[in-house]
Amino acid sequence: MGERPRLSESVVGMAEEKAIYVTSLPQMKRAGQKIVVVTAYDTPSARCAEEAGVDVVLVGDSVGNVVLGYANTLAVTMETMLHHVGAVARGLRRCLLVADMPFLSYQTDVATAVRNAGRFLQEAGAHAVKIEGGSAFRAQLEAILAAGIPVMGHLGYTPQSLHVFGAERVRGRSLQEARRLYREAGFIEEVGCFSLVLECMPAELARVITEALAIPSIGIGSGPHCDGQVLVLHDLLGWSFEAPFKHAKQYLNLREAITRGLQDYCREVREGGFPTEAHSFRAHDYEHLTREQLEGPE
Ligand code: KIV
Repeated sequence: MGERPRLSESVVGMAEEKAIYVTSLPQMKRAGQKIVVVTAYDTPSARCAEEAGVDVVLVGDSVGNVVLGYANTLAVTMETMLHHVGAVARGLRRCLLVADMPFLSYQTDVATAVRNAGRFLQEAGAHAVKIEGGSAFRAQLEAILAAGIPVMGHLGYTPQSLHVFGAERVRGRSLQEARRLYREAGFIEEVGCFSLVLECMPAELARVITEALAIPSIGIGSGPHCDGQVLVLHDLLGWSFEAPFKHAKQYLNLREAITRGLQDYCREVREGGFPTEAHSFRAHDYEHLTREQLEGPE
């Protein structure tokens, strides 16, 4: 496996730690080491995730609703995803970078799925892709994996199918649906995915699936028994205008901090408190300048 270059500077020295590969994740599961995953959509947030010690950065198609103002993920295209995955890749050296395959980038046919998955590695610098759904996409998953592209699975609440699910977000509350999700999780492992996101399912179901699989489960809204956790960056930072989800713990209130900073800026500009001497430049040849000096002969 090729060495990834190291970041030139690091606030807390995390870039000096070993790079994470797809093969690291099952090893971490076997070692009982929890896997930390977070979404990111741009270079500075990717850089912060890396310096904080996150293991895996996911450029989710949640970019659509989290930072681009859409109501859901369905409007997100390959071009949008490539743009954001590239930005995140430029902020990472150590973390594993997973790109979410957006709606209609893989569902239509196998050739399109392989080409689009490959574009994330070839054009944007991702190390793996994530695909929502299970055995319905067997042909696509087999072909993408055969092309040498690692895949992270995603079961439970799969936001690209929101119109099928209706208002209920939590999947697998009935025994019948729990059995179906358990079978699908087995399929995801058998087909060759290196990990599996379990989104919004009862903690007990996530526990049984996690114990049954050799590949790691990455939970979001699926309780404490998963091998790792993923959160949407803006949910955990409190940088959102939406009501928080029950499953998302908020560690900061960035929206408030940003608004306060901007209010201070507005006030200082209006009152003349900014810019000051400290933010201004001096000339070499003159201290005070008059129009006559500029308009007169050289
Ligand atoms: O798009 C996304 O951010 C995701 C995670 C929530 C798993 O799919």
